[in-house]
Amino acid sequence: MILPTETVYGLAADAADPSAVAAIFEAKGRPRFNPLIAHVADLEAAERIAVFDDRARDLAASFWPGPLTIVAPVRDAAAVCDLARAGLDSIAVRVPGHPLALDLLRAFGRPVVAPSANRSGRPSPTTFADAIEETGVAAAVALDGGSCAVGLESTVVSVLDGTVRLLRAGGVTREEIEAVVGPLAADGGDAHRSPGRLTLHYAPEAPVRIDAEGPRPGEAFIAFGPAPQDARFNLSPAGDLREAAANLFAMLRAADRTRPAAIAVAPVPHAGLGEAINDRLRRAAGFVG
Ligand code: TXA
Ligand code: MG
Repeated sequence: MILPTETVYGLAADAADPSAVAAIFEAKGRPRFNPLIAHVADLEAAERIAVFDDRARDLAASFWPGPLTIVAPVRDAAAVCDLARAGLDSIAVRVPGHPLALDLLRAFGRPVVAPSANRSGRPSPTTFADAIEETGVAAAVALDGGSCAVGLESTVVSVLDGTVRLLRAGGVTREEIEAVVGPLAADGGDAHRSPGRLTLHYAPEAPVRIDAEGPRPGEAFIAFGPAPQDARFNLSPAGDLREAAANLFAMLRAADRTRPAAIAVAPVPHAGLGEAINDRLRRAAGFVG
């Protein structure tokens, strides 16, 4: 099922059904070592499948429903099948902040896994049309929830071993999380802690050039902030990071459709949501890590 969330569109299935989950991996061309996020309707449902400590509960209370995913020890391994967890004894769980997604989760009553609906390595879809273009062919049902308000995937934090670690920057900022649980531990770089980070590229067809002052001949230019010339693409003319995050993937796709020699993107400040925006841009440009 194509499922709208406040972050990006997901390709969703019953988390307990290995053949439905296998179909998701296949439709995305996703490596099987990369586990999926279980989506549930509320904290109570999350605690039925994951073991939460006080910090996990504080985070959930502060940011759910919303763009935060918490990785915790698995409690009910059958509710989210082995394939969805990539065989790990931890589980990633979130309560999405989109009314359609919440209605669906409440009605279904069990966890739903949903990776972003893009084919593996591509930018995540933030509109219904983009989701259909990416993996719609694999879905029996598709829900149109409009454009995604956040536009970037959820922030992924791990609460394994008593420390809170940032595994993926996203829609909730580092500063917002640290205001609740104090300074975040560095991601130890352990591939097993954040398996997806090895393979994500968010890449359009055209090569991406970041921190660009302006376009070179043949390039499409994506500006940020007040642009000297009338830029066709501007993440946020006002220089607002929330607006830039919401526009990022759709604008990469739109620029790509002009079939440019490359897509040049202006520098984006690193604070707040800028951390996640720059993470996606660096990966789209081929700088992994
Ligand atoms: O905003 C989102 O999170 C979207 C919407 C649809 O909810 N979903 C999404 O899923 O971005 P996906 O599969 O594209 O990204 C999930 C990320 C991957 O980086 C994966 O490696 C990580 O979560 N992850 C899942 N389970 C994990 C685990 N047990 N330990 C560490 N990382 C995990
Ligand atoms: Mg993804």
